[in-house]
Amino acid sequence: MDQTDLQRHVDEFRLQLDQFAYEYFVLDQPTATDAEYDALMNELRRIEAEHPELVTAESPTQRVGAHTASEFGAIVHPRPLLSLSNVYNEEELAAWAQRALRFAGASDLTYVTEPKTDGVAVALTYVDGVLDHAATRGNGFVGDDITPNVRAIRAIPVRLRKPSRLAMPATIEIRGEIYMRKSDFDELNSRIADAGGKLFMNPRNAAAGSIRQKDPGITAQRPLRLFAYQIGCATGITLPPTHFECLELMRELGFTTSLDAERHDTVGSVWETCQEWLARRAELDFEIDGTVVKVDSLHQQEEIGYVARDPRWATAYKFPAIQQTTKVLDIVINVGRTGTLNPLAMLEPVNIGGVTVGRATLHNEDEIARKDIRIGDTVVVQRAGDVIPQVVKVIEERRTGIEVPYQMPDTCPSCGTPVHREPGVAKRYCTNASCPAQLKERIHHFISRAAMDIDGLGPNLADRFVDLGWISDAGDIYRLDWTEVAQLEGLGEKSAENLRESVEKSKRQPLWRVIHGLGIRHVGDRTANLVADRFGSMRALLDATTEEIAEIPGIGDVVATGIHDFTVEQVNRDLVAKLEAVGVRSQDDSSAETRQRPLAGLTLVLTGRLDTLTRPEAEATLRKLGANVTGSVSKKTSAVIAGADAGSKAAKAEQLGVPLLNETDLTTLLEGEIPAALASPIAETVDEPALEEEPVA
Ligand code: IVH
Repeated sequence: MDQTDLQRHVDEFRLQLDQFAYEYFVLDQPTATDAEYDALMNELRRIEAEHPELVTAESPTQRVGAHTASEFGAIVHPRPLLSLSNVYNEEELAAWAQRALRFAGASDLTYVTEPKTDGVAVALTYVDGVLDHAATRGNGFVGDDITPNVRAIRAIPVRLRKPSRLAMPATIEIRGEIYMRKSDFDELNSRIADAGGKLFMNPRNAAAGSIRQKDPGITAQRPLRLFAYQIGCATGITLPPTHFECLELMRELGFTTSLDAERHDTVGSVWETCQEWLARRAELDFEIDGTVVKVDSLHQQEEIGYVARDPRWATAYKFPAIQQTTKVLDIVINVGRTGTLNPLAMLEPVNIGGVTVGRATLHNEDEIARKDIRIGDTVVVQRAGDVIPQVVKVIEERRTGIEVPYQMPDTCPSCGTPVHREPGVAKRYCTNASCPAQLKERIHHFISRAAMDIDGLGPNLADRFVDLGWISDAGDIYRLDWTEVAQLEGLGEKSAENLRESVEKSKRQPLWRVIHGLGIRHVGDRTANLVADRFGSMRALLDATTEEIAEIPGIGDVVATGIHDFTVEQVNRDLVAKLEAVGVRSQDDSSAETRQRPLAGLTLVLTGRLDTLTRPEAEATLRKLGANVTGSVSKKTSAVIAGADAGSKAAKAEQLGVPLLNETDLTTLLEGEIPAALASPIAETVDEPALEEEPVA
């Protein structure tokens, strides 16, 4: 066989293998047996081994590359990955539809329903039909780069199929949920049990754990699947006008889409389908926690718009939470990082939907009184999704008379300071700024994954440092005496050294993580990101007035006041100064994320002749820096870069009001910087403030 014949042979094998995978995963109608598939795969492997020059990254044999990640890089989403508002009954669903109608300015709407799969949200970007990168949802704005792991999942195409009536998109971002079937989960757990490993709690945890493996070889062995549910953005094609057709398009491209998506012309029909899914829930081979309802027309979706993190054009009917009965063994107080006394019910452990629950939040004393929860009571406990379990009600018939009503303490259980209760507020506070319990909670928050993410420093070790008097604020973490740390029982020199390194490394965390870590009331990762973006340094934030903070789109008055109250407090200013003095980042000239893909979110078109480099060279570099480079100008184009003799594309840009850049601007872009002629790269979809609550426990 000569080289061209061999090449053709190999191409055919690859197409055939992709076709088999498509029939198996997407159509659910396999035409080949597993043995046939494996035989073909082995044959291809054999040829590739003999002819390494024929190996391509997209070959089905190359799903697991040599790449292993020591940590996940960051990917800035071109458009934020949003969450969904919830409705719990027919009235709330009808009210949602009324609002959608009002914002659409329409008299009726078409809706689409899909089951809400309980898995892990991902965004997959394909460039010229080939998987380019994959990211987790992260905080909605920035996710983890999980490309090698996603490549290893056979149910996800590495190469797209060309759709029948459209060209192959230049770029397309597919959003969906990676999940594990219940049956596959059971099998996986029994395999793990046989090998003496640690079992996964439920299919969702198993999917999340499998996708976050450092070794894609492990991900490859996990039975992961994907339901594609949205096209985030696409270039080089005109998307169909409705969500329903987008689902069809995604199927044509090679994805499994949410099972049994249905169109409806009335809310009544939507509600019926919600009830049907609820009834089918137990018999499905995958976990669902609700039904997603979306307005079908993409144009109307835009009209209806967004509120804070949620689209107004979609909602989720959440199934009633899973409930169980158990006993309240005790009620204890957890002192939060802002000094709130949070009552917790210690429960006789019960399994609720695959998770063992031993504690439930009681919120506050009014709630305890309202529900009349006593120690010794038999109660109904519910767990919805991954939120903290709650006590729904007491089963009074089960009372024996020995149950003890609970009395909130008048002094802080940690430091003994008399508690403070503001009139009209259901919470009691410990006002002692150096209360060890509060301090511990503040440190836990600072070092947590969501904030400074200090590897190897968990809550228990941090508590030991506090108890030893070694740390009395977050700044002290950076002043630990490492020789003394190495002397601690159970630690040793090696772990002390590792810990020292991660503490050192955390100094370079981006500014938003430091701001988040401060534990300002109402400030979660999203707000911290907005604040860091706007002010760029701690100094500027400390100097900002409430009005200046409230001017940030997405931050409302309550949050702005919370931030300002924090920054005027001398202890907090001292803490910020101390963090800066020990070398923690206080300025965000170039955060880790923006350094990696500084042009993410920009869609650029190159036209005309360039003097300093060729167009393909420019395109390749722009893509590497995160930009989308496409061939045609539309309203979604961020800018057109026009070289010499630019023609119709430059004219079109002018007509659409798309900024025109010259070759000097291009040089700026190639250096990873945004030229002055361009505005903020990330589409701003946030239009109302969202309160991020402090966790209760
Ligand atoms: S649409 C803007 N469709 O639910 C619309 N989401 O609570 C965004 N999910 O983050 C989501 N199945 O991870 C959509 N058929 C479906 C879904 C679905 C599961 C998840 C998704 C999202 C979360 C929102």
